Amino acid sequence: MDTPFSTLIRTASHEQHTEAETSSFMGDLLGGRLAVDAYARYTEQLWFVYKALEDGAEALRDDPVAGPFIQPELFRTAALEQDLAHLRGTGWRAGVSPLPATVAYAERVAECARDWPAGYVAHHYTRYLGDLSGGQIIRDKAERTWGFARKGDGVRFYVFDAISNPAAFKRTYRELLDGVNADDLEKQRIVDECKRAFAFNSAVFHELGGEFPLSA
Ligand code: HEM
Repeated sequence: MDTPFSTLIRTASHEQHTEAETSSFMGDLLGGRLAVDAYARYTEQLWFVYKALEDGAEALRDDPVAGPFIQPELFRTAALEQDLAHLRGTGWRAGVSPLPATVAYAERVAECARDWPAGYVAHHYTRYLGDLSGGQIIRDKAERTWGFARKGDGVRFYVFDAISNPAAFKRTYRELLDGVNADDLEKQRIVDECKRAFAFNSAVFHELGGEFPLSA
């Protein structure tokens, strides 16, 4: 394959990225048109997804395909839990529930973690590289819209304390993708799974949009 895999996967998911970015829920959220409750509900959904990603990570640490991607400085579950405690109060666990699309998404991530490490890589890429990129735009908007302290409680999910240079980290991550231990056919399957990962995200946005329609 001549095209580096990192380029291939980015290009292949470009259209769906635009779709996710321009979903009405994201647009309303980032446009400052929704109350903090919608942001909290979205954060809850992320918690279920990252639980699946990170509960599955430990067993993959020595996997020849997914192992190199498992980097604790990326882990987000603890940060999400801090954000949820801030957003919902210390009893947040009792009130948290996944949307149907979130259940499907988290189940697929767990399934990949268990049975198909290369598929797990697709989910890993879709979430973490996105968080390191557009996530920073979301953080900035959230801080302004709902008055969270800069990089503080409420937006800790978007703050990678252990990554001092995100641009350099992303470069290294792309090198990992380029060297992924998979043949061309398997790489194509990873790309397909990445598209599926984006579709899961869009489905979650769609359901959140249904729960938080704009009255205007
Ligand atoms: C409003 C929401 C979003 C905004 C504003 C946004 C913005 C961005 C931006 C500006 C980049 C480019 C960073 C760069 O070139 O280094 C990026 C990359 C990325 N985003 Fe998003 N994004 C959003 C939503 C999403 C969602 C929902 C996902 C999937 C869960 C996602 C996944 C990704 C991925 C995987 C990349 C890395 C592409 C690559 O370089 O390979 N983004 N995003």
